[in-house]
Amino acid sequence: MTTVRGYLQLLGKKPEYAARKATFDLMISEVDRANAIITEFLSLAQTKQTELKSQDLNNILNNLYPHIEADAFTQNKQIRFILGEIPNLELNRSEITQLVLNLTRNGLEAMQERGCLTVKSYVEDCKVVLGIADVGCGIPPENLRKVGTPFFTTKDSGTGLGLAICYKIAESHNAKIDIDSSFRGTTFSISFPIPVVPQKA
Ligand SMILES: Nc1ncnc2c1ncn2[C@@H]1O[C@H](COP(=O)(O)OP(=O)(O)O)[C@@H](O)[C@H]1O
Ligand SMILES: [Mg+2]
Repeated sequence: MTTVRGYLQLLGKKPEYAARKATFDLMISEVDRANAIITEFLSLAQTKQTELKSQDLNNILNNLYPHIEADAFTQNKQIRFILGEIPNLELNRSEITQLVLNLTRNGLEAMQERGCLTVKSYVEDCKVVLGIADVGCGIPPENLRKVGTPFFTTKDSGTGLGLAICYKIAESHNAKIDIDSSFRGTTFSISFPIPVVPQKA
């Protein structure tokens, strides 16, 4: 794939193909898209046991703040972080990073310009909840059952793999994903079990 992309780039720069620049750009962007799909699909197919470590979810979220803010900024949208006091959780940092980015990307993509995406963390019913709420178009009831099925997408250039990966990551963390959606927006709530601290005898 790298070779194909490299040759397309090289040939596309030759003067005899100057008139076909748009075609070359399209071919390159399609190679990039195929590459993104394969990379995501492979991460979905990975069966290796996830390594979990006790850590602070808020710390992972705070580290992602600049990244999500930049995504929001380029789309002319807002973000808001409301991080509560939560206990450490058993987490795999890179998987949680992936989950948060997939969900925030979807949330941003669902909203009109100037819409605000809210990322929260809080404790509820003995669980730590990560909430990602947008004020976007919502998910129609007939699609609610389908989201998370690999390759289900309503976007022209979507892969339909983002949520499938989120469900897999939630499973490896014994976490549960709830979706609350209406025409006013969508909230994804991921509830993580709070680890039991071993009691001294
Ligand atoms: N926050 C959201 N608001 C509205 N629709 C959403 C949201 N998140 C996911 N969806 C719907 O679920 C589909 C699948 O999402 P995803 O698996 O991330 O794939 P993709 O983003 O590539 O389409 C999206 O195409 C969209 O229809
Ligand atoms: Mg997505």
